[in-house]
Amino acid sequence: QQQEKASLLKAYDFAAKLYHFILGNTEQGKAAKGYLTSRGISDKLIDTFQIGYAPAMWDTLVQQLDKRGFDLALMERGGLISAKHEGNGYVDKFRERVIFPICDATGKVIAFGGRSMGDAQPKYLNSPESVLFNKSRTMYNLHQARPNMRKLQQAVLFEGYVDVIKAWEAGISNGVATMGTALTKEHAALLNRNADQIVVCYDGDQAGQSAAFKSIPILEATGSRVAVAMLPDGKDPDDYVRNYGFDRFVREIIEPAVPSMKYKLLYIRKNFKLHEDGDRLRYLQSAVKLISDLHSPMEREHYLKQLASEFPESSYEAMKLDLHEILLQS
Ligand code: UTP
Ligand code: MN
Ligand code: MN
Ligand code: MN
Ligand code: MN
Repeated sequence: QQQEKASLLKAYDFAAKLYHFILGNTEQGKAAKGYLTSRGISDKLIDTFQIGYAPAMWDTLVQQLDKRGFDLALMERGGLISAKHEGNGYVDKFRERVIFPICDATGKVIAFGGRSMGDAQPKYLNSPESVLFNKSRTMYNLHQARPNMRKLQQAVLFEGYVDVIKAWEAGISNGVATMGTALTKEHAALLNRNADQIVVCYDGDQAGQSAAFKSIPILEATGSRVAVAMLPDGKDPDDYVRNYGFDRFVREIIEPAVPSMKYKLLYIRKNFKLHEDGDRLRYLQSAVKLISDLHSPMEREHYLKQLASEFPESSYEAMKLDLHEILLQS
């Protein structure tokens, strides 16, 4: 087992270097290079994140691995190549895709995310889980972000590879991503070991905002403080940087991140028609319920006051009575 792991690690390392070389130095890599340039990913970023390109041929990597004496059956079990559908032999798993190497906490390549440049589905093909790669414990860019997370005692959590990369260029050196899977308890614990505060910066679409809402209790359960950075409807961090530049991304999105309670109040608000009496009352009741979850009386007071000043026709005293009732029941 130990030997198999070592051999797989060697193979992933080799494959990452091969794909990176192909991107930067070959005719085949040119279109991919153009694709990355058009997305605002510079040569420097390509190097920092060791981005590569897997060409269209069926067996570029298989041939190279074979030539170097790697056990192809093991490579297949490790998710690096695929068994042929018919007959014996192996073919490359990643073809005609831009390759984002995924590393473990020490910087060793353990998986790939491969993005298609056209309409090929899926948009991102990720390596399957293997002896090296456990999705619920791996975060994209953790190895480069970790020292900065520790220094700043803050981590920024994104949805996607390109969001992390663009944010890095914007000076956000403590950004990581979960790569399409839901945030797990293990991810939360991993972040909490390195930073007190987590800024969640998910996409500004329904899926992203709902994922952000769900991530809050998971992160807070480990003792982290959580803030949420909000993007305009339908935009993700990469889109925002492309449209408005790095400085505005930091100033208008990351810095104004709101405390989790404020985000939760804003998030549930969308379900109510606040100009209608009945709905407004139901919103206030849901809001008071959320506020009652806060452990600190001072914090409860803070948000209750804020709510009362926002809805002056409903009295603060009444809200406080509601809050006390909820607290007594729980
Ligand atoms: P998104 O759909 O938001 O993609 O998924 P993106 O990161 O903005 O992709 P670009 O900008 O079009 O390149 C967020 C993340 O979910 C995972 C990837 O890790 C992606 O970065 N994902 C998405 C997949 O694993 N497979 C997919 O088909 C799509
Ligand atoms: Mn290079
Ligand atoms: Mn998304
Ligand atoms: Mn996105
Ligand atoms: Mn995107």
